Amino acid sequence: MNSIPAVTYPVHFQDKAYISLSNLIEKNNYSTIFIVVDENTFEHCYPKFIQNLNTDKKIEVIEIESGEINKNLETCIGVWNAITELGGDRKSLLITLGGGVITDLGGFVASCFKRGIDFVNIPTTLLSMVDASVGGKTGVDLGVLKNQIGLFANPEMVIVDTDYLKTVTEREIKSGTAEIIKYGVTYDTNLFNEIKNNPKLQISDLIFRSIEIKNEVVLQDPKEKNLRKILNFGHTLGHAIESFYLESEDKENLTHGEAIAIGMVCECYMSEKLLGFPSEKVNEVKEVVLSIYNKINLLKEDFADIMELLKHDKKNVNGQVNFVLLNDFEDYKIDCKVPEALIVESMEFYNQ
Ligand code: GLY
Repeated sequence: MNSIPAVTYPVHFQDKAYISLSNLIEKNNYSTIFIVVDENTFEHCYPKFIQNLNTDKKIEVIEIESGEINKNLETCIGVWNAITELGGDRKSLLITLGGGVITDLGGFVASCFKRGIDFVNIPTTLLSMVDASVGGKTGVDLGVLKNQIGLFANPEMVIVDTDYLKTVTEREIKSGTAEIIKYGVTYDTNLFNEIKNNPKLQISDLIFRSIEIKNEVVLQDPKEKNLRKILNFGHTLGHAIESFYLESEDKENLTHGEAIAIGMVCECYMSEKLLGFPSEKVNEVKEVVLSIYNKINLLKEDFADIMELLKHDKKNVNGQVNFVLLNDFEDYKIDCKVPEALIVESMEFYNQ
């Protein structure tokens, strides 16, 4: 696969990507190289990484605990302290090796440390390959509120090595698939149809196209003033549902993709009612979602809590929730206000 030149950095693929990384390290003569991992990526991904990297620089490994629950400022402080104790300075390089938690948090840590050091993202999950690691969003959660603290900062490069996908569970692959469905519905109907018509499809084949789409969108609108908002399709309600399950003690957490998939079905329904998005396409999206993910029964008694969490969405202005909705596939409308009753109705529609 050829590299994709992204906003200000390249996305390199497969084994030859490590040559590019080794060259970057040599060219910039970094003082220290830090790699942020979690216990899983240290065990399953780091051995391949270190074997392929060609450098005589010392690599300092900083391990954080896996899980969305640890994507917070306390973890960042731990990493900043470790970098400081290990002699990090402005000429240090930070490499992230992991899923969205590691790439988002690691990018944030790097961009704040001494007002910013270089970083490289090496996503190891489908979700972070097709979304989190590309596009320059970095940050952490605030309590259960997702990605409330963060900034835009671009890595020096992104390395996508699909070999790492062998180390993740089927459930995690499905989580990333939701983002690919999102690209299909909002930007490339062919991509959606490929997923719809090929249940046995190797999802890794769709990674390249997904990154191309994300990159095209981000190039046109890096700071999310307009077009980039389509990447939030399904995420407005989806994030609220994800946060709700994260904070409920008696409910199993949903993966990001599981929550976003529900959000997409609901937001297609809102699109139908408010913008005339064709009802057969709402059903198509719902069918595809239910063919991939287990049905979750959203309880009526939980709707009020989910609505409360919606009020914290980052796109809100003056307390008003803003949705990205669809007139049709590949035809979006941003900043849509949706009556509360319709949001509730959309969750009932998903439940049916
Ligand atoms: N994950 C959505 C975006 O990068 O804009």
